[in-house]
Amino acid sequence: MIPHQTVARPQAMHSVASLAPLPYNQAIMNKPLPTGPYKGVRDFYPEDMAIEQYIFDVWSQTAESFGFEQYGASVLEPSELYKAKGAENEEMVNEQTYTFVDRGDREVTLRPEMTPTAARMIAGRAKELSFPVRWYATPNLFRYERAQRGRLREHWQWNCDIFGTNDYTADIEIIALAYQTLLNFGADQSMFQIRLNDRALMTRLYHALGVADEQITAITRLNDRRNKISSEDYRAALNEITNDEALSEQIILMLDNSDEQTDVMTGLAELGIDNVVFDKSLARGFDYYTGTIFEIFDTDPANNRSLLGGGRYDNLTSLFGGTPVPGIGFGMGDVGMRNFLETHDLLIEPITAPTLMILPMSIEQNLAAQKIALPFRVAGLSTAVDMSDRKLGKKLSAASDHLSEYAIVVGENEIDGDSLTLKNLTTGEETAGTLDQLVEKLTG
Ligand code: HAM
Repeated sequence: MIPHQTVARPQAMHSVASLAPLPYNQAIMNKPLPTGPYKGVRDFYPEDMAIEQYIFDVWSQTAESFGFEQYGASVLEPSELYKAKGAENEEMVNEQTYTFVDRGDREVTLRPEMTPTAARMIAGRAKELSFPVRWYATPNLFRYERAQRGRLREHWQWNCDIFGTNDYTADIEIIALAYQTLLNFGADQSMFQIRLNDRALMTRLYHALGVADEQITAITRLNDRRNKISSEDYRAALNEITNDEALSEQIILMLDNSDEQTDVMTGLAELGIDNVVFDKSLARGFDYYTGTIFEIFDTDPANNRSLLGGGRYDNLTSLFGGTPVPGIGFGMGDVGMRNFLETHDLLIEPITAPTLMILPMSIEQNLAAQKIALPFRVAGLSTAVDMSDRKLGKKLSAASDHLSEYAIVVGENEIDGDSLTLKNLTTGEETAGTLDQLVEKLTG
């Protein structure tokens, strides 16, 4: 864990001492550097990147099909954004942020979530924007977490938020968007479950039992861990908050009776969304939520962490002054998304190879092959030249092993004459023609 107070200041770059070779540098000079990434983050080799891109594409297309517009921001934020009253999440700020002091003595944090950034940007233009607005972004986020299945130190999180309305149908729309996204990946309702709760309703239920406001915040934080601890430990922690065993029992009874029907649940049912349960123990880790909160879980126990989480936060923009702009939204991570797709066999093998490979007979013909490749590229066909010194037979089998669709062999005859032969690597069919004719055939 790195509490943000203890991070070291960077050294001045040009001090005389820094010019002398450091023992650390000497040590690594004799030892090859590791090829793996930093702890808890991923490299994306092309086959991983193809899956990543597919996930991002489905996310964006679904957001746009609901009329959302894309926005973005830097990964660097002033640390105070996460410490301000109302935005804070103690665990995240004290234990999970990557925070450092920059060369101008400013405390900077690599964003651990996007919601404060979105709220900052909305507040900055609150007077000009015509509300409600629907925004989406897919930022990379950094959290110093214990790396485990479904949770890493850097992940990419698709965020969709509606600002400027507190109408309950916005809550329904945002959950319907989350639901539709999973369907667009090929999932069906049996593969996931939507869990719903409402902070405002919970406050009323706690008040009815005589629980004080500070205790409600503490109980909500405890509930966030309820599934991760034993029922004895939960009861003991609850007693510590209430100092009243009878009250604790009443709270547990109230939480376990999930027979609640809210307007949001009824509305979702009207849209045909039935895989929803009301779960009064659902807490969400952030203090800024004020109303509906929800998470989506994979029904396969192999993935026991939430795929998506969100809620309504009607006061967050008041951190920046002015009239608060209500918001509701969610974040969905790429790590859990990929696990979900793999678990339910919803991923198609990604093809990363160029559609057309140009195969010179020998390296002397590499440049001529580039000239032949060019008009295909200009016409928009993904085309590459095999510039290795392998034999032609090996080049052909490499092209078909990588799932390229076509190949053109370039030897002296092809360079001297004006006819080329296009080979379909799936059917074996060959077509002769001029360069223009073949470009037309593949791209026309
Ligand atoms: P969150 O529950 O912290 O919410 O994260 C949302 C989703 O991001 C999680 O359900 C999970 O899919 C993914 N996620 C979170 N942390 C990690 C991690 N360390 N590694 C991999 N995936 C992770 C928020 O961040 C809220 N700001 C979401 C929101 C948007 N609320 C309203 N608008």
